[in-house]
Amino acid sequence: MKATAKAHTNIALIKYWGKRDETLILPTNNSLSLTLDGFYTTTTVTFRDDLSSDTFFLNDQAITGEQFNRVSTFLDLIRSETQATNLYAEVRSTNHVPTAAGFASSASGFAALAAATTRALDLSISDQDLSRLTRQGSGSACRSIYGGFVEWRQGTKPDGSDSFAVQVQPAEHWDVRVAAVVLSDTMKKVSSREGMKRTVNTSPFFSGWVNSIPYDLELIKQGIKDRDFEKVGNIAEANCLKMHATTLGANPPFTYWHATTLAVMQEVQTMRERGIPAFFTIDAGPNVKVLYLPKDEATVKKALLDIPGVHDVIVSRSGQGVTYL
Ligand code: PMV
Repeated sequence: MKATAKAHTNIALIKYWGKRDETLILPTNNSLSLTLDGFYTTTTVTFRDDLSSDTFFLNDQAITGEQFNRVSTFLDLIRSETQATNLYAEVRSTNHVPTAAGFASSASGFAALAAATTRALDLSISDQDLSRLTRQGSGSACRSIYGGFVEWRQGTKPDGSDSFAVQVQPAEHWDVRVAAVVLSDTMKKVSSREGMKRTVNTSPFFSGWVNSIPYDLELIKQGIKDRDFEKVGNIAEANCLKMHATTLGANPPFTYWHATTLAVMQEVQTMRERGIPAFFTIDAGPNVKVLYLPKDEATVKKALLDIPGVHDVIVSRSGQGVTYL
C-alpha cells in the first residue's frame, strides 16, 4: 500500500478568487491556468498497520501544526469517501522549488498527495474524479492534475460533484514561457483563504469581478486556441489587476503588492513599449510571474534581474499533469 506521484504547480491566467462554500472548497467563478514545469512536488504515501496517527515529512522535516492538520484532514476525507482503508499513512513530500523564496505551492502539494494516496489504495479513479477530490484539499490544486492549459469549472451543485478541472489544451499545443520573479522582500502575507473570505464578505468590487469572468474566459480560450499571444497576455494581465482591485475595496483593505511588485509590473509595461510582448500576473503574494515567448527569453530575463529588489528569476515552460513514479 505504497505509491509515489509527482505534480507540478500552476499559474492562473484567469484567477480563482472567492468561495461559495468554504468546507467543500467551491468557487464563485471558473478559472484557467497554465501548468508549470519548473516547480513540482513528489510525494510518497505508505499506509501502515503500525502507525497510530498519520505522519507528514516535508523535505525530510517532520511537520506538525496547521500544515500537518491540512494533510491529515485530507487523508481522513479520502478514507471516509472511499471506505478503502482504516490505516494511517506516512506521507513524505519533497518540494522541488529552485529557491526557498515563497514559491512552495499548495497546488502541486495537494495534487501529488491526492494522486499518491489514491494510487497507494489501488483505487481506479478518473482524472475528473481525482481533480474533484484534490479540490477539497486546496482549490487551485484541482487544476494541477492536468498539464498545459486547464479550466476549473465551478459547477452549480451544492455537493460540489460538478466542480472539477478539465484540460483545455495540452502542454505541446503552445510553447509559452513563464518567468517567476522572486523578490528579496517576501513579508508575511494574508493567506489566500483569508483574503478571499474578506473580499467576498466586504468588497463592493466583488460582484464586478465575478460578473466579468465569463467574457474573459471566452476570449482567453479562443486566444489560446489560436495561439494569439497578445490577446492571451492582455486578458491575463487585466484579469489579475481586477482580482487585486477587489482587495483594495475590502474591509479592512489590503494588498499583496510591495514596492518591487509595482516596479516589476512597470518594467513589463516598458518592455511592451519597446516591442517585446510580455505580460504579468500575480497571485496572493508579492512575487510576479511574467509571460513571454521563447524568442524573448534572454531579454526578458535580463530586464527582470536588473530591477532593484529582485532576488531571482526562474523560467518555466508549460508542464505535464500528474505522473506516477
Ligand atoms: O487554492 P488556493 O487557496 O491556493 O488559492 C489560489 C488563489 C490564487 O492563487 C490567487 C488564484 C488562483 O487561481 O490560483
